[in-house]
This record gives sequence, C-alpha cells and structure tokens, in this order.
Amino acid sequence: MKISKLALFAIVLWVVSVIVFGWFFIKGNTAPIDGQRTAIMLNPAERELALVEMRGLLASTQGILEGLNKKDMKQVAQAARASGMASAADVNPALMAKLPMSFKELGMSVHHAMDEIAQDAEAGKPSGEILNKLSNTLSSCVACHAAWQLKSE
Ligand code: HEC
Repeated sequence: MKISKLALFAIVLWVVSVIVFGWFFIKGNTAPIDGQRTAIMLNPAERELALVEMRGLLASTQGILEGLNKKDMKQVAQAARASGMASAADVNPALMAKLPMSFKELGMSVHHAMDEIAQDAEAGKPSGEILNKLSNTLSSCVACHAAWQLKSE
C-alpha cells in the first residue's frame, strides 16, 4: 500500500495538533512573574469568572462555619453545595484550556470536598468531623493561592 504525500502530511499535522493541544492542556496559558507565584494569563472576562467562583468559595466557607456554629446543618449543606462540582460544571472550555492541569486538579478537589461536606451535613455527621474536612479543604485554598496569580492579558 502506498500512502500518498497528502495523507502523510495530514497524519503528521494531526499528530502535531494533538501534541500541541495536550501540551496546552497540561501547561495552561502561564507566564513567570517575580516572586514565588506563576501567573495564569486570562482575558478580563475569564479572570472575572474565575474570581466570581473564588468569592463563592469564600461565601461557602463563611456559611459552613456560621451553620456549624448555630448547629444549623441545613445551612451547612446549602452553603457547601453552592460551591460543589455543579458550580464548576458551566465553566467555558476556552478558560479550562488556559488553566494548568495542577490548577484544575486542585480546584476540582475543593469543589468535590464541598459536595462531601454537604453530604456529611445532610447525613447529620458530627460538627467536629465536618470542621476537620473544611480545615483540610482550606489547606488546598492556601496552597493554590501560594502558587498562582490570575492576570489579565
Ligand atoms: C486551584 C487554585 C485555587 C484554589 C483551590 C482556590 N483558589 Fe482562590 N484564588 C486563586 C487565584 C489564582 C486567585 C487570584 C489571586 C491573584 O491573582 O493574586 C484567587 C483569588 C481568590 C479570592 C479573591 C477574589 C477576588 O474577587 O479578587 C478569594 C476570596 C478566594 N480566592 C477564595 C478562595 C477560597 C475560600 C478557596 C478555598 C475554599 C479558594 N479560593 C481556593 C486560586 C485558587
């Protein structure tokens, strides 16, 4: 069988595209900056979308603590659920492609933990156990903030 030059060219082009796409998917759209963090370059609307999500995470954290303090497990569940996986599901693909893999993993683990906290609250687990999970989750917030910055292009 003889492979035509055109077919060969198409295959090479396809392989190169897959590699380039994979590289961006893992590395994201990043730039080194002074200090210890790495900047993720987003357009202004994408940056705002990510920051809205962040403010949601802070509001959830506050709601969970307030609910635990008042022994109102319904509030704990509601506050946690607001930042669960469903809240991240509608993030647009272009933004996802710009976020580095490790950033996405850390972010998803936090959303997942929020769903777990909601389930635990609904199941009536002890406050101490939920506080422990929230505290562990907050170390992911701290770790991510120590590593990354969001910059507008
Ligand atoms: C996957 C990484 C990551 C995780 C996890 C994460 N953040 Fe962030 N967050 C960021 C980055 C990056 C910024 C922007 C910082 C900058 O540009 O200096 C940010 C900004 C914020 C802001 C500022 C929002 C604004 O409007 O300026 C708040 C509040 C915040 N995060 C709260 C949280 C809380 C609370 C958690 C955990 C429950 C959390 N974040 C988890 C990466 C993360």
